Amino acid sequence: MLSFSEALSAGTAGAAPALEWLVPLLDAKGGDETKLLAAADKLREKTLGNSVHLRGLIEFSNFCRKNCHYCGLRAANKKIKRYRLSKAEILATALKAEKLGYKTVVLQSGEDLYFSSEVMSEIIVELKNKTKLAVTLSLGERDEATYLAWRKAGADRYLLRIETTDRRVFREIHPDSDLEYRKNCLYTLKKLGYQLGSGVMAGLPGQDSTSLAKDIIWLHELGVEMAGIGPFLPHKETPLKDEKGGSLSQALRLIAVLRLVFPYAHMPATTAMGTIDPLGREKALEAGANVMMPNITPTEVRPYYEIYPNKICLDENADKCFGCVTARIIGLGRTVGTDYGHVIRKNSGIKEPNSR
Ligand code: SAM
Ligand code: SF4
Ligand code: FES
Repeated sequence: MLSFSEALSAGTAGAAPALEWLVPLLDAKGGDETKLLAAADKLREKTLGNSVHLRGLIEFSNFCRKNCHYCGLRAANKKIKRYRLSKAEILATALKAEKLGYKTVVLQSGEDLYFSSEVMSEIIVELKNKTKLAVTLSLGERDEATYLAWRKAGADRYLLRIETTDRRVFREIHPDSDLEYRKNCLYTLKKLGYQLGSGVMAGLPGQDSTSLAKDIIWLHELGVEMAGIGPFLPHKETPLKDEKGGSLSQALRLIAVLRLVFPYAHMPATTAMGTIDPLGREKALEAGANVMMPNITPTEVRPYYEIYPNKICLDENADKCFGCVTARIIGLGRTVGTDYGHVIRKNSGIKEPNSR
């Protein structure tokens, strides 16, 4: 392993991701940690500037067929009230978001097969006909034909976290999911031309800096264009209820290291960061992040999308959250992005997906 200074020099010089420099940076403490976050912040400013892109998050269904050991939406959790927004409600929410100034909506749900290839395609087509919004999907694992149908319907981007690439850790926490299958979903999404987002949770049981560094190397091989990470927050109605969970500082170091590895990727300051610390999203924006995903889900159903406890903004509405994040961004001396914030494909030769 390199020393911290050697590792930071390698990272800032754009070295290919390798354990020898990723691990010392992920383990940085005290003054070293401060230097790491500052270096990532500086690089973000150089490559992507000061604007922060807003993506309005619509949590449109909390039904889920899976039983991930960490997530409050798991099928076996009988204590949450399940809901699905109708097509009309999803469209109305998106139209409102566009009026507020959003350029992108993210449609996220549990793995709810009610939203079939056909049902979802109709929603995407109508969204694209009625608005100028870019559409990001995050509905979990589906087959290639379904991903293709949604892409053809007009979806621009897809978010599917790999969660961890450590085979043993993955198997322990995913009773009904397979690491190779999930990886294949990501390869397929990439092949279909989606702007591709993935990422991991930080602080899963059994994970360490070496496994996180291997995750980063895999995400780099995949060629991820949006990298979303957040701390794992234990939920009392799940098998992982007694685990410690992730820490703010570990998540910040991971964001910073990801920024060094992916100078142009879009990286959100996630809601989980705002949940673990009232200023967590600001801290993420100052450690390499350049995106925020305010909740625009109708207030009535927000409490039921409880993937982890104490989630922020449950009593708020779309206007309030839009105003709040805007003020936070301006408070940092940054600006709210006014363009689509599509992925930047430097020298890739890949044609930019059209937002329409
Ligand atoms: N069902 C889709 C999937 O799993 O990809 C999308 C929705 S899922 C709720 C979105 C993300 O929430 C997951 O990828 C996972 O990283 C995160 N998540 C779930 N439970 C969490 C927890 N307890 N703490 C932090 N993040 C969590
Ligand atoms: Fe379902 Fe996604 Fe939660 Fe797993 S993480 S239980 S797939 S909503
Ligand atoms: Fe919802 Fe601050 S982001 S109130």
